[in-house]
Amino acid sequence: MTAADTSGGVAGRILGERSLEDMEALLARSNRGDEGPLHTVPTSATARFTWDYTKGARPRLAKLYEKAKGAMWNGETDLPWDTPIDQEKLVLLSQTGADPVIDFSGTPVARWGEREWLAFGIEGQNWMLSQFLHGEQGALLCTAKIVETVPWADAKYFAATQVMDEARHVEVFDRYLSKLSGRYPVNAHLGMLLDDILTDSRWDLTYLGMQIMVEGLALAAFGFMAQLTPEPLLQQLLHLVMADEARHVAFGVLSLQEVYRDMSGAEIRERQEFAFEAAVRMRDRLLQQEVWERMGVDPKLVVPLLYRSPEQVQFQRVLFSKIVPNCKKLGLLDAGDGWLRARFGELGVLEFEDWEDTGVEVLGIA
Ligand SMILES: [Fe+2]
Ligand SMILES: [Fe+2]
Repeated sequence: MTAADTSGGVAGRILGERSLEDMEALLARSNRGDEGPLHTVPTSATARFTWDYTKGARPRLAKLYEKAKGAMWNGETDLPWDTPIDQEKLVLLSQTGADPVIDFSGTPVARWGEREWLAFGIEGQNWMLSQFLHGEQGALLCTAKIVETVPWADAKYFAATQVMDEARHVEVFDRYLSKLSGRYPVNAHLGMLLDDILTDSRWDLTYLGMQIMVEGLALAAFGFMAQLTPEPLLQQLLHLVMADEARHVAFGVLSLQEVYRDMSGAEIRERQEFAFEAAVRMRDRLLQQEVWERMGVDPKLVVPLLYRSPEQVQFQRVLFSKIVPNCKKLGLLDAGDGWLRARFGELGVLEFEDWEDTGVEVLGIA
């Protein structure tokens, strides 16, 4: 981001430590486990009334709003909460555990047997679901902010439905976690990203950070987990949530298309840098360092081994399957000198650029 940007965006902090190999810097971030029951983030956005109440002035947003009103579900009554959950069995069925490709010799993990890998698999489930929960609360706060800041009536209406959706998502992930054996605080990278998205004063960056980047990644991650898990309650929960998330990502694509069409090259470049840094941070949050800490293993000894494992690399790539086509649809991939295309190329995720964007996927119109 440029030096002129003082709004506390994702900005230079990460650029300074962005070296993809700089594991020490990544792992030096500790989580917020000791901060107490509240985390406060001062924000300074401009709230906007609009006196133009014309419904349907933006027909695609209006269509999305109608769709959202008819798609509400009830987390209390629409899910089979009495389904018993056997986490050990789930780990065994999911075949998580020792990856035969990775050589752990010389680390404490080399001595692990079945019992330790089982415990690790269970902690991994608790960790992942906890991060989903915290991310959902981030979406709740960001979208409430969009209701205030976006200048268009159709967008305020839709955003209000999304606030309701996110409340439901927080509710159901929290309830699901209460059936598991433990929870984790928000991961440091995810927490910083959510704070930065919330504190940025430019309304379109709330959208870009949340609807395009965080929710785009969440949509891919939920789909990945729904395919892998043999647990029926989680499968149903994820399918309900994903149907909502697709609308939310489409909301970002449809809104920002209009905004970015008229932006200057310099402004677009700031958005490209913001998108890239958010992508790098989200990829870095997936290292599960807190799980290793809880297992009594120094993450510095094992995370670098896992980070480059074929399975991990494949998972990290899949997470970009929604983000890349949506950035392309917004013109961010190729604007200016194609800066973002070059960066996504370095991350090895350009294979997704011609996948259907989420606007088309949800509304069926380009
Ligand atoms: Fe959500
Ligand atoms: Fe969402």
